[in-house]
Amino acid sequence: MRPIKVQGEEVLVLDQRLLPTREKWVRISSAEDAYTAIKTMIVRGAPLIGVVAAYGLALSAKKVSDIEEYRKMGEWLKTARPTAINLMWAVDRVLRATGSAPSFERSWEEANKIFSEELENARKIGENGEPLFEDGDVVLTHCNAGALATVDYGTALAPLRVAKEKGKNIKVFATETRPVLQGARLTAYELVKDGFDVTLIADTAVGLTMMKGYIKKVIVGADRVLRDGTTINKIGTFQVATFAKRFNIPFYVALPSSTLDLKSRVEEVVIEERSPEELFYIKGRRIAPRGVKAFNPAFDITPPELITAIITEKGVYYPPFNFGQGP
Ligand code: MRU
Repeated sequence: MRPIKVQGEEVLVLDQRLLPTREKWVRISSAEDAYTAIKTMIVRGAPLIGVVAAYGLALSAKKVSDIEEYRKMGEWLKTARPTAINLMWAVDRVLRATGSAPSFERSWEEANKIFSEELENARKIGENGEPLFEDGDVVLTHCNAGALATVDYGTALAPLRVAKEKGKNIKVFATETRPVLQGARLTAYELVKDGFDVTLIADTAVGLTMMKGYIKKVIVGADRVLRDGTTINKIGTFQVATFAKRFNIPFYVALPSSTLDLKSRVEEVVIEERSPEELFYIKGRRIAPRGVKAFNPAFDITPPELITAIITEKGVYYPPFNFGQGP
């Protein structure tokens, strides 16, 4: 299941806000379109955000002749969502590739490269992570780090897909992932489509589900991983990791190298805060009283001591993590 189609110079993305009830494709023709798609979460998931930004910026090179204007456009595009490092990484790659003047050909070629690298990375993450999962495992995942968050296969879901291809019976527990419900709407959707046995749980049911012994392993994706393995991922990941530690359940994080941030310290990472409306409303219906306030961080921070292993396209890494030189 691919959430992005590139046909000639036409880029189409699946509107993930409407899933699983409607499949609608939206055209990306410029950096402005990419900005809107990323900000409003038509597309989401760190690797996919990077790929869409790269194509949007490349398409704008057709209309811009001044390199300063093109660079400014890239810097603006980076502000669409502040936490997923893939966005900054992809924009910087396109800007570097274009050289001293905006070049559609060079920018487009770089966007295509990013797309195919991410496709290959996801497959390799799957192959590297697959041996960690045994026939009969029941695996909990949080948010959506599947095909819909990448260009295919996923990050967290890739090892599970490869394990299934190899004949292993893997059952999945998906957290619903309030407030945007990526687990209920997207993870459940793509895994059911692929023939997995999937059980949906409320985010608040993680502790009991683990206490009952239903979960054998956990795997999640990431929006940014720092040199020491500190993992910034969907809000709630830290709670899941804390419970996993409490019940001695292996907790894995899967990501491509494009999600590594080797420069920032944890205090420097901006945690996106999204609109209170996401908490006040469900499917357009207000559920909270007027006058209440909301705090709606989209991501949280999982310290490395809660992580059993980190899986990338280059291999599987165990603590103490040190991505100082890159994996
Ligand atoms: O707010 P989202 O839906 O963009 O958040 C997505 C996540 O947190 C994913 O777990 C992460 O991007 C990894 S995607 C392979």
